Amino acid sequence: MSVGILGTGHYVPTKVVTNKDMEKIVDTNDEWIRTRTGIEERRIADDDTDTSDMAYFAAENALEEANVKAEELDLILVATVTPDSPFPSVACRLQDRLGATQAAAMDVSAACSGFMYGLITAKQFIDTKTYKHILVIGVEKLSKITDWEDRNTCVLFGDGAGAAVVGEVSEGKGILSFELGANGSGGKYLYQDEHDHLIQNGREVFKFAVRQMPKSAVNVIEKIGYNKEDVDYLIPHQANIRIMDAAREKLGISEDKMATSIKRYGNNSAASIPIALSEAVKNGNIKDNDLLVLVGFGGGLTWGAVALRWGK
Ligand code: ACO
Repeated sequence: MSVGILGTGHYVPTKVVTNKDMEKIVDTNDEWIRTRTGIEERRIADDDTDTSDMAYFAAENALEEANVKAEELDLILVATVTPDSPFPSVACRLQDRLGATQAAAMDVSAACSGFMYGLITAKQFIDTKTYKHILVIGVEKLSKITDWEDRNTCVLFGDGAGAAVVGEVSEGKGILSFELGANGSGGKYLYQDEHDHLIQNGREVFKFAVRQMPKSAVNVIEKIGYNKEDVDYLIPHQANIRIMDAAREKLGISEDKMATSIKRYGNNSAASIPIALSEAVKNGNIKDNDLLVLVGFGGGLTWGAVALRWGK
C-alpha cells in the first residue's frame, strides 16, 4: 500500500485581467511584467465569490474525478492565507457545504507552500491507516489582500483554487518521498501588514527561492535513489518563471515538461501547485506511471516537495 492522489480539481474565476489592464491601474507595462515574471494575465474573483466558494467548486471537481463521495471523506485540509474569516475555517465551511458529515476539518497556514504541507500531512494519516480519504485544497483570494496601488506586488497575484483527493494507491505509485522545511527568520521578507496588505521584499524572496526550490526538487529525487533524468514532469510553485526555470534547469528537463500556468493565472499562492496539477492531468500532460516532482516555497519562509509516481 502506498499513498497517492485519486482525483484532482480546480477552479479559476472567469474575470481575466491582462497586463494591459494593469497598465491602467499602476505605472507598469506588459513588457516589464512578462520579462521579469512570465505573467501575461491573471484571474480575479468578483465581490460575491469568496475563498470558500472557489474551494467548493474545485472540491466538487476533484471528488468527481476521484469517484469519492463527500460522505466518504475523513478529513478536509484547506491551505490558505486568505480565508473568508479567521474562523470558522474554510475547511469547516466546506465540510458543511459539501455534506462531508464524517470529516474532520481544519485550515493549514503555510502561504505558497500550503498545499505541499497539506498533502504531506494527509499522507501521514493514510500511512497510519487512521483515515482513508482526505481532501486537500489550496485556495486563495489574494485580490482581497493586494495593495492595488503598489506596482511591486499587485501585478504578481491572482485568485483560484486547486484540490486533490488523497487515498490509498497501489504499491510503487503515489508519494515516494517528501521534504518539508521552514525558516522563520525570513518571515520579514513576506507578510501581511496592519492594513491587511501583502508586503514583499521581492529580491530577498527571489534569492531564497532560486536556492531552495531547485535544492528541494533534487533532494526528493535523490532520496529515492533516482536520477534527475527519470523525472517526467515538474510542477513548481508558479511565482516567477525565472525561479521556475532555475528548478527546471537544475533537474535538466525541457520546457515542455514543466507546468507553466503562471502565464494565464499569475501567482495563486497555495492554489498554484494543485491548479497546475489538475490542468496537467486534464490536458494529458501527465500519464500513468509518470514520475512527478511537485515543489513549492513561500511566506514563513516555508518550502515543501514531493516525488510522486502518478496513477492509482
Ligand atoms: N512595473 C514596472 N516597474 C516595476 C514594477 C512593475 N510592476 N515593479 C517594480 N518595478 C521597478 C522597481 O521599482 C525597480 O525600479 P528602480 O530600479 O528604479 O528602483 C525595478 O523595477 C526593479 O525592481 P526589482 O524589485 O529589482 O525587480 P526584480 O527583477 O527583482 O523583479 C520581482 C521583482 C518580480 C518581484 C522578483 O523579485 C520576484 O519574482 N521575487 C520573488 C517573488 C516571489 O516568488 N514571491 C513568492 C511569494 S508568494 C507567497 O508566499 C504569497
